[in-house]
Amino acid sequence: MSDEKTQKITIPSLQAKKEKKEKIVALTAYDFPTAKIVDECDLDIILVGDSLGMVVLGYDNTIPVTMDEMIHHTKAVSRATRKALVVGDMPYFSFHLSVEESIYNASRFLKEAGTEAVKVEGASRKRLELIKAMVEAEIPVMGHVGLTPQSIHHLGQFSVRGKDVDEAKKIITDALNLEKAGIFSLILECVPLEVARIITERLKVPTIGIGAGPWCDGQILVFHDLVGFSNGFLPKFVKKYAELNEIISQAVKGYRNDVERGNFPDDSHSYHLKSEVSKKLLSNK
Ligand code: KIV
Repeated sequence: MSDEKTQKITIPSLQAKKEKKEKIVALTAYDFPTAKIVDECDLDIILVGDSLGMVVLGYDNTIPVTMDEMIHHTKAVSRATRKALVVGDMPYFSFHLSVEESIYNASRFLKEAGTEAVKVEGASRKRLELIKAMVEAEIPVMGHVGLTPQSIHHLGQFSVRGKDVDEAKKIITDALNLEKAGIFSLILECVPLEVARIITERLKVPTIGIGAGPWCDGQILVFHDLVGFSNGFLPKFVKKYAELNEIISQAVKGYRNDVERGNFPDDSHSYHLKSEVSKKLLSNK
């Protein structure tokens, strides 16, 4: 018997949340221990985002992230997750060459890495055809519009999208087209809250916002930003709930000081021989 606390989150249960006006709560995770904590906190979605590249692999942007890196980290997340829906992010150039190769790459997330869905950035005509083909191949797809970090070289910088009427209309049209193509939910990244509200009201599938205001059906943040375990620039939309950098730094300094002063390890962290073994050993010296 499963109760509400242990019931697996599914695409229909996310859809039901939208219909009941219950908020969907999502976070990224990239490894086993983090995913375990997030899952045990009863979150709905864990996204293994390609933000992996910037957050834990030290790249300047998400472009260098490979399929193999994504699969490696996603496997660890899936092994830790019992309840949340796990979504794998299709990295740059894993869905650009041909429909066949893209579907093959997407299928690796489901078959090898244990996800229930993939996320694909963008809404060009080709992208919409690809998403239709993925959905026909039984691969659930989460869309992503607004700021799409894989277009960084085209956009020039990570900044709010849809601030003028034309761009706002384009994002709204993209969202509607993605829904027609068959996505089960949509990430809205860095768009004005008014634009996110219009999209959320017009779409039947749930919207998940990051820097898109309170009207979205759900919210997502990057785990490391939320807990203060990231380096560098933090966007305005992040709310930090902890300062892990500080806590970890204190712990590492404490360890260094203890080792340098001979306070660690002490007897309580050491193993002993049985006294007769010890005597024999010493007498044989
Ligand atoms: O890669 C990622 O983590 C993402 C989220 C920020 C939505 O795309």
